[in-house]
Amino acid sequence: MRTQVGIVGAGPAGLMLSHLLHLAGIDSIIVESRSRAYCEGRIRAGLIEQWVIDLLIDSGVGERLRREGMFHDGIYLCFDRALHHLDFRNLVGKQVAIYGQQEIVKDLIARRLGDGGRILFEVEDTSIHDIASTNPRIRFRQGDKAHEIECDFIGGCDGFHGVCRDTIPGDKRATFERDYPFGWLGILSESPPPADELVYTYHERGFALYTMRSPTVSRLYLQCAPDEDIANWPDARIWEELHTRIAGTKPLQEGRILQKGVTPMRSFVCEPMQYGRLFLAGDSSHIVPPTGAKGMNLAFADVRVLSRAFEAFYRSGKDDLLEAYSRTCLKRVWKAQRFSWWMTQMLHRYNLENDFDMRRQLAELDYVASSVAASTALAENYAGLPMP
Ligand code: DHB
Repeated sequence: MRTQVGIVGAGPAGLMLSHLLHLAGIDSIIVESRSRAYCEGRIRAGLIEQWVIDLLIDSGVGERLRREGMFHDGIYLCFDRALHHLDFRNLVGKQVAIYGQQEIVKDLIARRLGDGGRILFEVEDTSIHDIASTNPRIRFRQGDKAHEIECDFIGGCDGFHGVCRDTIPGDKRATFERDYPFGWLGILSESPPPADELVYTYHERGFALYTMRSPTVSRLYLQCAPDEDIANWPDARIWEELHTRIAGTKPLQEGRILQKGVTPMRSFVCEPMQYGRLFLAGDSSHIVPPTGAKGMNLAFADVRVLSRAFEAFYRSGKDDLLEAYSRTCLKRVWKAQRFSWWMTQMLHRYNLENDFDMRRQLAELDYVASSVAASTALAENYAGLPMP
């Protein structure tokens, strides 16, 4: 097989890259180790920045988002038993939308296949070769048949545990990491969310987030231990903790729990995001802790920059945008890292043996909720920094 851009991974990054390339008349093939059903069912965060709303709509995959997305003008911060509203529309003139990542994945897969795109699901033993040459290759197996795709370029969109990042020689890349002493226990519940917009809660017992997937389905998260055993969390204990952490503000309705899981927290960046003809995008090169939901938004920012660079290359033979890819993306990546870290450290309980941090965090939350300068800074980052 031969294509212009071989893409490893059918998550949001790989699918959007393939879609944007197609709109620019550039051919691609996606290989994916999981099944289509797995990709479409994987539950992840569901919050998109204003420019991503615009990207989905402008690139023709926003029809269901427009109908089913929940468009929010701001968020609530909850601390000291009170809700404090931040109005992004007033502060920075932007909105955000709640629309599940797997819904975006479904829309993109349907559109790629509808446009005649090639997505090869359930491939095995994927490896990439000759990335320092002008003819990189993707090899994989389907059943007992070995296959090879000859490409001009490879998009490494295969996530944190994928194979692409590790093909960059160790002495040509650096990694930057931070682990957090907590995780999130997340549930999907058949019950209405407690408020019309998201509630980010700081409580003595730990962080909680009350978000949603529809007017009748809530997505609720609790700060827990990083290695939390879900078996220690029967439904009754989860509800009790969720009631306690939002206490004094909004009553929380309980419902049937449809799904439960623990989300790890990590900050990670691999630099540079390119080596030879391999371009990393999304989680394969950076992970943010979930507070603020920047992960998928960053993946879309990477592939927006990358698709424009490929377009310029195929149109005029110029490789200056490809050459600048890593530098361009890393500026946004590090700002999102900073913001995700900042939200995380402001809202989670740690250093329990000493109340200094708790007093400092409450002061910071009060400052953010009461100062136009501070709430504007949060809103500007949350609703999405301008795209280059
Ligand atoms: C969601 C997850 C987040 O981490 C966040 O900050 C906002 C929303 C979500 O799953 O809806």
